[in-house]
Amino acid sequence: MTTADPTPALAPAITGLPADDTWWRTAVIYQVYPRSFADADGDGTGDLPGITAHLDHLADLGVDALWLSPFYPSPQRDGGYDVADYRAVDPRYGTLADFDALLARAHELGIRVIVDLVPNHCSDQHPAFCAALAAAPGSDERALFHFRDGRGPDGSLPPNDWTSMFEGPAWTRITEADGSPGQWYLHLFDPGQPDWNWDNAAVREDFQETLRFWLDRGTDGFRVDVCDALVKAPGLPDWPRPTHGVIEPVDGVMPPMWDQEGIHEIFRTWRRLLDTYDGRRILCAEAWLPPERAARIIRADEMHQAFNFRFLETPWQADALRDVIDASLAANDAVGAPTTWVLSNHDVMRHASRFGYEGPVELEHGVGADDPQPDRPLGLRRARAATALMLALPGSAYLYQGEELGLPEATALPDAARQDPVWERSGHRIRGRDGCRVPLPWTAEGPAFGFGDNPDTWLPQPADYGSYAVSAQRDRPGSTLRLYRGLLELRRRHRLGAGDLRWTASPDQVLRFANGPVEVMANFGTEPVALPAGTRLLASSAPVTDRVPPDTTVWFTTESRQA
Ligand code: NOJ
Repeated sequence: MTTADPTPALAPAITGLPADDTWWRTAVIYQVYPRSFADADGDGTGDLPGITAHLDHLADLGVDALWLSPFYPSPQRDGGYDVADYRAVDPRYGTLADFDALLARAHELGIRVIVDLVPNHCSDQHPAFCAALAAAPGSDERALFHFRDGRGPDGSLPPNDWTSMFEGPAWTRITEADGSPGQWYLHLFDPGQPDWNWDNAAVREDFQETLRFWLDRGTDGFRVDVCDALVKAPGLPDWPRPTHGVIEPVDGVMPPMWDQEGIHEIFRTWRRLLDTYDGRRILCAEAWLPPERAARIIRADEMHQAFNFRFLETPWQADALRDVIDASLAANDAVGAPTTWVLSNHDVMRHASRFGYEGPVELEHGVGADDPQPDRPLGLRRARAATALMLALPGSAYLYQGEELGLPEATALPDAARQDPVWERSGHRIRGRDGCRVPLPWTAEGPAFGFGDNPDTWLPQPADYGSYAVSAQRDRPGSTLRLYRGLLELRRRHRLGAGDLRWTASPDQVLRFANGPVEVMANFGTEPVALPAGTRLLASSAPVTDRVPPDTTVWFTTESRQA
């Protein structure tokens, strides 16, 4: 048995960014979760200098850009998605000078940097919200948020029946300055994350400033958090169903807090602003919408890209994946936008563990030590095959830190260590997303496996994380890290991001397609399938002979294509 190990020699240092206005159409973008990437100052939490010190890893890997999850001042009620100041760096993560240094080094290495914009809500410690609490009902300060009187004779019931994405009501009642029970404010997420009122021009102007602030520093764009929630239906009507995962219209109607028509005008304004720069800054929509609705956000004058969460939600099944690939390409082609692909991020169970369960998995639910555990070897095998399938698809792909190591979800975190607000808000029913946010292992040994000098990391690392370390995989033939590097190099060399997908007839439980000169075959069945005659293997997610074993994806060329 052989593994096609397509790993190139270490990439040479590049100095500077390619002058390419369409880089994002084919880009591989790597998500850094700053809290968990690398800790330079030894406080047990990752930071910006830690990221800068490890940018060579991303250059070697061969990604085009990185996306930084929030590093802004924040009480960390929701891992930094509760922003207290949009134009500063939390001292835990460093300083603005550290950000500038990170950006400069990344650009030297030919890597673009996009940052997270969190426009739906801020932190309850944001000065504007503190001022709103201190001000009177009906004031300009309150009008920046959604404050309402409660229902019922004494106003003790929430203004409507919306539920928070983190469980419980989406409203919290305040105490007025005079000590009396007061109005309620809307928070689609944690009470520490009040929703901005985007009907208010002052909110729009303030975010324009924030965009300019980061663009002027040279930032290459924004990933826009829950961008589909900015505008709420007039009157905030009741909606008696909780929403989770990709949100579908009900009888043709979207829930009143998601994907309202008014969002598009906001995105057009932002796009006009970005286009006044050099034409190379991008907006990527985070919206859990089906492909045809997400595509409306990436029409030519709106955002550039939208995450493809329908793809992420799809289990390891041939027909289901083929359907979602076709639907995604069709929806995006219809608006002239590239399709994106993603398998993991900081909100869902890592795909190396997700695919280790038979059947559907609740993506954000989390796993505890007493819960059924994933089949690790199976999960990793399928994860490698899924990644090899994804990276052969035309368009842009997002990777999440650690997936290049085949890192599993931490499924036995002590409950006392959990930080995801949903754990408390659900009365300890939902463990949440901490398991995919554990600090990365860089070295096989050492106090925090090379994450930093402090063994007391903000979430504890599982004892076996060292075996997944970068140092343990860099030179090991067949390692997941080498597989990723090799696939990314081939993808770039054969311009697969800019290619076309053509399906080829294949047996049941097998997907086969061509993209340019590269052919791809993924075996979802339980029996090996023969490789076509005259095949030259380029890459394989597991060892193959002249047959492709189950749960394996191969890239190859055939003689006719090579000719
Ligand atoms: C999506 C982010 O990815 C997630 O981590 C966060 O909890 C919610 N938006 C709210 O900001």
